[in-house]
Amino acid sequence: MNISYKSPGALEETRFEKIHSVIFEDSKKASLIIAKEISDLIIKKQKQDKNCVLGLATGSSPISVYQELVRMHNEDGLSFRNVVSFNLDEYFPMTKKDINSYHHFMNIHLFDHVDIDKKNIHIPDGNIKKERINEYCAEYEKKIAKQGGIDFQLLGIGRTGHIGFNEPGSNYDSLTRLVHLDYLTRNDARKAFFGIENVPTTAITMGIKTIRKSKRIVLMAWGNNKSSVVQKAIEGDVDSNISASYLQNHKNATFVLDKSASEDLTRVKSPWRTGSSNWNKELKAKAVAWLCEKTNKSILNLTESDYNENNLSELLIEKSYYDLNLDFYKRIHRSITGWPGGKPDSDDKVRPERSKPSKKRVLIFSPHPDDDVISMGGTFERLVSQGHEVHVAYQTSGNIAVSNSDVLRYLEVINSTFPDCECENDELIKILKNSSDIINNSRIREIAATIREKESLAATRFIGIPDNQVHFLKLPFYETGTIKKNIPTIVDKKIISETITKIKPHQIYAAGDLADPHGTHKVCLDILFDSLKDLKSKTFMKDCWVWLYRGAWHEWPIHEIDMAVPMSPFQVLRKRKAIFYHQTQKDNVMFQGDDNREFWVRTEDRNRAIAKKFRNIGMSDYTAIETFKRYHF
Ligand code: F6R
Repeated sequence: MNISYKSPGALEETRFEKIHSVIFEDSKKASLIIAKEISDLIIKKQKQDKNCVLGLATGSSPISVYQELVRMHNEDGLSFRNVVSFNLDEYFPMTKKDINSYHHFMNIHLFDHVDIDKKNIHIPDGNIKKERINEYCAEYEKKIAKQGGIDFQLLGIGRTGHIGFNEPGSNYDSLTRLVHLDYLTRNDARKAFFGIENVPTTAITMGIKTIRKSKRIVLMAWGNNKSSVVQKAIEGDVDSNISASYLQNHKNATFVLDKSASEDLTRVKSPWRTGSSNWNKELKAKAVAWLCEKTNKSILNLTESDYNENNLSELLIEKSYYDLNLDFYKRIHRSITGWPGGKPDSDDKVRPERSKPSKKRVLIFSPHPDDDVISMGGTFERLVSQGHEVHVAYQTSGNIAVSNSDVLRYLEVINSTFPDCECENDELIKILKNSSDIINNSRIREIAATIREKESLAATRFIGIPDNQVHFLKLPFYETGTIKKNIPTIVDKKIISETITKIKPHQIYAAGDLADPHGTHKVCLDILFDSLKDLKSKTFMKDCWVWLYRGAWHEWPIHEIDMAVPMSPFQVLRKRKAIFYHQTQKDNVMFQGDDNREFWVRTEDRNRAIAKKFRNIGMSDYTAIETFKRYHF
């Protein structure tokens, strides 16, 4: 693979950008290139008989960089003997052995797998006496200086804009010190700590000046939830409220972004403002949608001056504003359909789906056992009521997300109902009562999976499909009994391919969530895409269309929507009811993400918000809409 990026200074269509940044299709590719830069530097220094001083980060972002470095060590002989490392930060107080310590993180992701000399590893100690902290931090600075400073500093970015744990307000000249963590930062960490109340409120972090003194800085950002802060850091003013913006003053810093994290940059969001554009159909649609939002007008009300005054004159060279408006209006209007499986006996030239066959076999892939109803409950029900043969395949068991108290409740009901039952319930009940963490016990996880299966069946029965059309695939990559999942293998792909081959669907629906690069949705989607590649040449696949839906978090941008399925107020209530059958995922759910609303509220809000957007650009006023994008494989 040819992977490279231009060095700072070689800026292209980056008019609003004040930090060199490069965008990659996905975080995997981007991580390979960062690892390559690091390994090149290590080797260069080896040849000069010098140490290579690396500043290292923790968090979800660098995991795949470390994975690639470990691979290079194992397969390409990359040695870390000349590496001296300094980690950015550590929670305080925190013991080294704690599974949430950055010591533990670095060991499991990198240090335990490479030949670095342990005495060359430096990570702030979260276990020192409080009265020693100032002295300790000054020593940390000295140790870095003694090595001649950091050659390469790897950074992530927090949603507060922090680098290291330099939260908003951090001083430009700050050094290693004890800091207070912002609420948002602690909230983002709560999953690992099983609740925000367990996340430390303070940490030791390198300062802005410590980081700035590095000879080379690479900051990674993956996923949609970083796009807004990335835009502020790169395009905004240098601002103490966004620590990462301080890097605008560094001569050799690069932001490496995946597509989702770059979405708010001007060159991505409205590329016509950064220079001449390559006006394909997609981009024209994006521009008109953007113009509606900018001017707060519906499509057919946009005028020639709206285009001219908003950097879109170039568009008017080929077509009049009137035709542009009309093209986009028709495109959006035609995406709306009450017939997601195609309207039988009708002219389907401009409809999103084919009319034939009028009764289709439909396969909905749902990463967790409730994504089907959360993300496309309304469309699911329409497909069933319009006579299609709808199957659902739950890709993972979702067993990690059932709380101990829920498993306990079911076991206690069984014990009270069948007191003579010869099962090992008493032992399990004891374990469940004595732990607040996720329990890696195969029986308990199995019971948790069964609870979720039964919830799913209650929902699919409510929607009206027979139980034999509901498939629980339990993909092995997920079945680790812990939050950390395995890397998927061909076994996972085989299960997906066999399911598709058995059903031979005319339509596949899948969760097209690309937001969280390490999340289960993305892994499930990658496995599906891989399997589609393999199956592509099969005759039955010629007649199969793939539609992507979005999960509870993000919506497709309006110009990317290929099919919009409206819901009546009654259908919204039915969808809500179907979601309610997933009782273990209601109220205080274990994996809430950064949004405190319950799943049904989130999805209703999202479905209503997109309906409002459709209305604002001049479509009919629907209660709610579910949206889909076609995937051409
Ligand atoms: C980690 C660190 C933090 C993270 C940032 C992003 O050592 O200092 O600044 O880089 O919070 O975290 P993730 O990568 O988990 O989104």
